[in-house]
Amino acid sequence: MLELLSSKEYRSGESLAAKLGVSRVAIWRQIEHLKKIGVDIISVSGQGYKIQADFEMLSAVKIYKNLASAGGINKSSIRVSKVVDSTNAVLMRLPPSREQQVLFSEFQTAGKGRRDDEWISPPGGGVWFSLSRCFDSPTSSFSALGLVVGISVISGLQKLGINGLQLKWPNDVVFEGAKLAGILIELRSEVSGPCFAVIGIGLNTNLGLSARRKIDKKVIDISQLSDKHLSRNLVASALLSSLDEHLSAFENLGFQSFRESWRRFDFLLDKELKILCGSRVETGRAEGVDDIGALLLRQGGEVKQILSGHIIELV
Ligand code: BTN
Repeated sequence: MLELLSSKEYRSGESLAAKLGVSRVAIWRQIEHLKKIGVDIISVSGQGYKIQADFEMLSAVKIYKNLASAGGINKSSIRVSKVVDSTNAVLMRLPPSREQQVLFSEFQTAGKGRRDDEWISPPGGGVWFSLSRCFDSPTSSFSALGLVVGISVISGLQKLGINGLQLKWPNDVVFEGAKLAGILIELRSEVSGPCFAVIGIGLNTNLGLSARRKIDKKVIDISQLSDKHLSRNLVASALLSSLDEHLSAFENLGFQSFRESWRRFDFLLDKELKILCGSRVETGRAEGVDDIGALLLRQGGEVKQILSGHIIELV
């Protein structure tokens, strides 16, 4: 249905029904459902329906073909679903495996954000995916994994000509403070054994009006940052190649080798902040991150190490 609606011309309910072999009532219900889940459908009476003309479905074959280097990613390990609850949740339900698994989905019915927030993931509105990876012997700076994933997102997008992106600790990718992408990492580990991580990335590419209305923060998408149309499959490949490359370097070298990159992209550097740490609020000036990716907060003569927290306000 989405593919049919993305043609340049309007499609009448009748032609959609004939093409898909269903009744016009079924088409009407589908249209209402698509609108409800955040797809911007233009309807013109007498002509029919359409969505943005450049809508492109994700394809595992295209994503694999465009990988800069397949690295540790097998062709068969990339899957694309039309709909799942959450790509992170699906991979977390699988038994831990040494082989990387990658799952993209056009739509997530229960996309998960950090701090149990909902992640709005309308069909075609972004690249929503997760990668599972087994870290055999996590380094002492393993807690900085999310920061490295953030760096990998910026680096992958730079290769597509998207510049000016920054990282807001711990791992929001922002443009002038507006959120472009979020990262959610879920772990399963054994005492002194390997660590199984599911790394979820949500990158906004074409958020329609109805999806934007559901999000209560300043957001931005790729269509606003690139002057040419970027294929979602190409964006997906760029993210995946960069992620694989950065994770391998992180596994071998730890976070130390990424500190310089973090400094370059640090959105919070030298800003006065209010951070929610559990039920405590910490205030101070951000002075970058340390060797394990903790935020350094200057409070008068002291520098406090913040291991986890949520930025509530830039003072
Ligand atoms: C955040 O709150 O900033 C993290 C958002 C992470 C969203 C991605 S979309 C793909 C993966 N599946 C999920 O349910 N969440 C992550």
